[in-house]
Amino acid sequence: MKAPIRVAVTGAAGQIGYAMIFRIASGEVFGADQPVILHLIELPQALAALDGVEMELDDCAFPTLAGVVKQSSDDLEAGFADCNWVLCVGSVPRKAGMERGDLVRINGPIFTSTGKAIQAAAAKDVRVLVVGNPCNTNCLITMANAPDIPRDRFFAMTRLDQNRAATQLAQKAGVPVADVSNVAIWGNHSATQYPDFYHAKINGKAATDVITDEAWLQGTFIETVQKRGAAVISARGASSAASAANAALDTVKSVIRPTASGDCFSAAVCSDGSYGIDEGLIFGYPLTGDGNSWKIETGWEHNDFAKGKIEATLQELRDERDAVKDLLP
Ligand code: NAD
Ligand code: LMR
Repeated sequence: MKAPIRVAVTGAAGQIGYAMIFRIASGEVFGADQPVILHLIELPQALAALDGVEMELDDCAFPTLAGVVKQSSDDLEAGFADCNWVLCVGSVPRKAGMERGDLVRINGPIFTSTGKAIQAAAAKDVRVLVVGNPCNTNCLITMANAPDIPRDRFFAMTRLDQNRAATQLAQKAGVPVADVSNVAIWGNHSATQYPDFYHAKINGKAATDVITDEAWLQGTFIETVQKRGAAVISARGASSAASAANAALDTVKSVIRPTASGDCFSAAVCSDGSYGIDEGLIFGYPLTGDGNSWKIETGWEHNDFAKGKIEATLQELRDERDAVKDLLP
């Protein structure tokens, strides 16, 4: 067995947290030979629920679970101490009729103290994944409040959109989802995101050669992915949880494992100006990596349709950034 790593999850007693931490503890994410110490962080009023979560973790007897630290969000530095990963879930979900961006002034302030505490207390190699919505801009706030941490350590979650898009393409083509690859989500995790079917592949072929109904791709497909979160809320009465937890774990796996040749994975990361996006915005891009470092895929050509979509999601992220200027030191 290796030395344990520490993984913090904020909002650990919430619905995503509950769907996520058992899978982390099981060894599925970091490997069967990698012990994990879980740092479970919650609002003071939810700490009692965490006691129950800890009992259940004990009752799973996971060989890879090397310890549990429960911590109130009142002392985030204690919560993030020496953590190698910080999964920022704790925040308020939207309700039916809201857009995710409507949460920016409610959830945004959480991420100033989060960024400061990560910088002060986390391990030198810390990586941060922001799930709480609006996740791109919350990630921007976190990163801006942790200026000493290299910017390539910050991710906001667009993987749920990637997974949704892959399944929609697979179902339309009548193939297993494993046959779909190279699905990128450009921009914001919001109703302006651009799920890029032009570069997606089905069995190694261009998805547009397999699904020749371009009107469906440009219309129903994009809208279904953009509005899937709202559809789940409408059907379930609560926002997606198991699929969101799954996407968060997929993101971590994609960062720590090499990307398969010819494939990419989606996450929103700090823009270096690629594709004309404002430098410093947290923008969804196609990424590849070797398990240690990652890069934005370059050289993807966009037609006017795609350029229009990317411009719209960029403008929304600029607006969100402007709405939280006071939270960006
Ligand atoms: P939830 O209400 O079930 O759980 C949230 C938990 O966070 C609660 O237990 C709450 O006590 C805790 N919390 C709130 N503020 C906190 C703080 N400052 N510090 C620590 N804990 C805090 O909500 P959920 O369904 O788990 O969703 C959590 C967030 O994830 C929401 O913002 C939701 O919109 C977002 N989300 C994002 C994606 C994505 O794809 N990026 C997908 C699904 C949900
Ligand atoms: C989702 O995409 O399911 C989440 O972001 C939750 C939401 O508010 O849509």
